[in-house]
Amino acid sequence: MKIEGSIVAITGAGGGLGAAMAQRLAGQGARLALVDFRTDALDELQAALALPEGDCLARQCDVSNEEQVDLVFEEISNHFGGLDVLVNNAGITRDAMMLKFKSGQRQSRMSLEAWNAVIAVNLTGVFLCGRAAAEQMARAGNGGLIINISSVSRAGNMGQSNYSASKAGVDAMSVSWSKEFIRYGIRVNVISPGFIGTELVRSMKPEALAKMEAMIPAGRIGEPDEIAHTVQYLMKNDYVNGRNIEIDGGLRL
Ligand SMILES: NC(=O)c1ccc[n+]([C@@H]2O[C@H](COP(=O)([O-])OP(=O)(O)OC[C@H]3O[C@@H](n4cnc5c(N)ncnc54)[C@H](O)[C@@H]3O)[C@@H](O)[C@H]2O)c1
Repeated sequence: MKIEGSIVAITGAGGGLGAAMAQRLAGQGARLALVDFRTDALDELQAALALPEGDCLARQCDVSNEEQVDLVFEEISNHFGGLDVLVNNAGITRDAMMLKFKSGQRQSRMSLEAWNAVIAVNLTGVFLCGRAAAEQMARAGNGGLIINISSVSRAGNMGQSNYSASKAGVDAMSVSWSKEFIRYGIRVNVISPGFIGTELVRSMKPEALAKMEAMIPAGRIGEPDEIAHTVQYLMKNDYVNGRNIEIDGGLRL
């Protein structure tokens, strides 16, 4: 797929990784639909990108809300006259241990609210946006590409039962889609980042950050642009389908 002129929708575009993807793709002539529920972050990104009005559409949307998602993807398709790529990037964490016991007494447990919140955004959100985007792509008949952002935590990580389950679900769902959607010429792939230097990670205490880096064979956390670079690769290589690419410096959970 050619990047110049391609229409790319990015959910969670206002965040660290989404904004890096937008920056890299804008620099290569892509036309962007930026989706997030934080309007301040969208405004900031749009100003930084400084793309011509017709080449950049920013829309507030909760990816876990079916009505909002269907409307936004219809609007994106109408605005640009199609949709070539969706990056399902919006995601949240609500970390907690499943159970904490001390002296035979339960101290805490992961709440159902924390479970539901993460599943709603990370799994249902990907399902809803993927379904809406694939419908627009299939209708236009020009094929397309869906990239779902999972995580190395999909293998299971302490304190992240909800997050790990959501990301493992994204992984399996993506394989199903890669088999179902290829008949419409739509490829589906997954990127699983390891620890990437978004603001949250960078604002960690230096000792904690150093401990984390010591676990990574590459000896450092990744850069957001290294994830954006993988999005670019998946756009350019039309033979990659149904695969999960781990960008983690060799870290395995
Ligand atoms: N940063 C990392 O180290 C890392 C590692 C592995 C996986 N990931 C995954 O990469 C993706 C992006 O992560 P990030 O580090 O940039 O996070 P981030 O918190 O910086 O950005 C996430 C964005 O998603 C948006 N969002 C959250 N809920 C939403 C909803 N319901 N509807 C619409 N938008 C919503 C937020 O407003 C935010 O702008 C996530 O899916 C995350 O799980 C990140």
